[in-house]
Amino acid sequence: MNDNRTPVTVLGLGRIGATIAEIFLRNGHPTTVWNRSADKGTRLAELGARRAPTPAEAIAAGRLVVVAVADTGGAAALLGSTPGGLDGRTILNVATGRPDEARALGVALSGRGGYFLDGGILGVPQTLGTPDTLLVYSGSPIAQAEHADTIVELGNAKYLGADAGLAGLHDMAVLAGMYGMFGGFFQAVAMVGSENFTAGEFTDSFLVPWFRALLDMLPVLAAEVDSGKFPVNYSDLAVNQAGLANIRTVSRTQGVPTDLLDPLQRLFDAEVERGNGSASFTRAVAGLIGSGAASRN
Ligand SMILES: NC(=O)c1ccc[n+]([C@@H]2O[C@H](COP(=O)([O-])OP(=O)(O)OC[C@H]3O[C@@H](n4cnc5c(N)ncnc54)[C@H](OP(=O)(O)O)[C@@H]3O)[C@@H](O)[C@H]2O)c1
Repeated sequence: MNDNRTPVTVLGLGRIGATIAEIFLRNGHPTTVWNRSADKGTRLAELGARRAPTPAEAIAAGRLVVVAVADTGGAAALLGSTPGGLDGRTILNVATGRPDEARALGVALSGRGGYFLDGGILGVPQTLGTPDTLLVYSGSPIAQAEHADTIVELGNAKYLGADAGLAGLHDMAVLAGMYGMFGGFFQAVAMVGSENFTAGEFTDSFLVPWFRALLDMLPVLAAEVDSGKFPVNYSDLAVNQAGLANIRTVSRTQGVPTDLLDPLQRLFDAEVERGNGSASFTRAVAGLIGSGAASRN
């Protein structure tokens, strides 16, 4: 163990927490661990971790305390029920959660003399500690300055600024994009599945090549959005309005409902009605932002 390395603590030794503790141990950090059910610390203890009997003792042993329980609400409950001041320690929450929960946790911990960073892991245990995991984090700039070199050991770490809510927002937005892609995947394989084509053959031969090509187009589409003018690089809104209506008709004809696609059609329809049919179909983003206020709760 190298005494120059930041002493770290990991609370919560599930798939993510145990992997984080293992990375820290491998990198020579004095590492203390705690888990609600005691059995999960056994393997890490064999690798050199110190097992603390209580969360309070675990926190006391670390300068950087990573919390990896089920969600941010669980992290807040765990930390809230753990007595004692934090005396300049940093809590890095990597459990998934909402920005408002992260901000509230930051305020509560700073009232106890600690610093708070909220993190979102865009990766899986197998990619933690490699550039294939994107770790977005935000919160105390003092904590970031002290611990950036340790946090980067967990992956491709991107600090988003002092607002503790920004990491959760980015995490959730990326996951929203992911579910959009999954929704499209579900719809597509159901449509060809209605004629007994397997999801596997359709995905390999058609969806994957097309999705790969689309990924290269995203930066161009993002530039259309950022310009605020929605110039057409690929396709205008009116064409996509008609195209999506056709896709939905074919889907229904095949006996596959279109609930996943209908909201997008409504968005295209509304933007065309507003007179934006000749703008790029990315104009839909302006429609989303404009109509979001009423549904923020
Ligand atoms: N797995 C992934 O690929 C992945 C990827 C990105 C982000 N994440 C996020 O990382 C977080 C952890 O995920 P995971 O996959 O490691 O989950 P997991 O394997 O199910 O482990 C959950 C851990 O949280 C502990 N825990 C749950 N509720 C608790 C409470 N109220 N008090 C104290 N400890 C509690 C569990 O303790 P016990 O052992 O006592 O049950 C366990 O150690 C989640 O927020 C998840 O969304 C996971």
